[in-house]
Amino acid sequence: MSKGKIGVIGSGLIGRSYTMLFISAGYNVTLFDILAEQTHAAKKDIWDQLKALEKQNLLRGTLTPEKQFELIATTESLEECVRGAFFVQECVPERLEIKRNVWAKVDKMVDPSVIMSSSTSALLPSAISEGLANKNRFIVSHPTNPPFYAPATEVVPASWTDEDVKEKTIALLKEVGQIPVVLNREIKGFVLNRIQYAIMGECYRLIRDGIVSPEDVDTIMSQGLGMRYAFMGPWETAYLNATGMMHYGEAYSDMIFNIQQDFGPPERMEGPTLEYINESMRKLAGPEEDIQERRRWRDRRLTALAKLKKDMDKADAEDSKQ
Ligand SMILES: NC(=O)c1ccc[n+]([C@@H]2O[C@H](COP(=O)([O-])OP(=O)(O)OC[C@H]3O[C@@H](n4cnc5c(N)ncnc54)[C@H](O)[C@@H]3O)[C@@H](O)[C@H]2O)c1
Repeated sequence: MSKGKIGVIGSGLIGRSYTMLFISAGYNVTLFDILAEQTHAAKKDIWDQLKALEKQNLLRGTLTPEKQFELIATTESLEECVRGAFFVQECVPERLEIKRNVWAKVDKMVDPSVIMSSSTSALLPSAISEGLANKNRFIVSHPTNPPFYAPATEVVPASWTDEDVKEKTIALLKEVGQIPVVLNREIKGFVLNRIQYAIMGECYRLIRDGIVSPEDVDTIMSQGLGMRYAFMGPWETAYLNATGMMHYGEAYSDMIFNIQQDFGPPERMEGPTLEYINESMRKLAGPEEDIQERRRWRDRRLTALAKLKKDMDKADAEDSKQ
């Protein structure tokens, strides 16, 4: 018995990941791309990833890779992709006119009850959906890359998004093993990228001003802050670094405020500072032409980290039962 059909539009990096998430919970997925060869490459890639996940004991859901794979259909017709789907996930390139164009077509093809969800990283849901007849059915579900190992997903409604669209999207994401974070209103950059760009901005200024090298900034993150951030955020970190938040505030608020006032204004990343960072990264991560190798290194580490976190969560859950 099928649990229902989901249409995925765009079969690049994120379209593939969403497809894998949905099939892991037993949904049928019909995958569409303007380039037919992309959907074929996507299927091959998904199969390889399913087998690798099985080997690492990180497969989601209860279905075998074979059973999950059987749930994928590909099509060269957008109409066929969305026909009969209760949920449509759009994963086309991050360009407003491309997204608006795709949604204008889908809007005319689907039933008003269908949920129309975009993977956009930064385009406002209101900007994509204004003008759609079913704009109240539109929402953003922005995953963290790679979604399989970094499950936090930002859910961003427009002011006109129906409440049930938000609730059903959250429920679906949870069902497939993601961890949704809902924004109460849309904001430029959403939350993940606002935090990420705040970090990048200060790191950039520290390098520009000759305080530290790019390698040292990465060491502070990967061997310092990042060790904690792999399993807790800045607030829990602060809470534990003092005796609760009120004590933290008493002890450090003045100092933090003082340092924050010392941060410079935003600066465009370009010119000699950017070239210097690039040279340092070439030494650290290898030249651009070999970047694929370093990406594989990153993914092996992410996989190991995801496994460690999963095992520790399981151990914690067993401990709390005793
Ligand atoms: N890559 C990331 O790290 C990441 C993370 C989170 C969100 N996102 C967002 O997800 C979306 C997709 O990004 P991606 O990295 O998968 O891009 P991608 O370039 O890997 O894939 C995009 C796919 O869309 C297809 N496409 C282009 N125009 C189309 C159209 N009109 N109809 C159907 N298919 C079309 C392309 O052929 C391609 O296969 C973007 O909005 C991006 O911002 C990306």
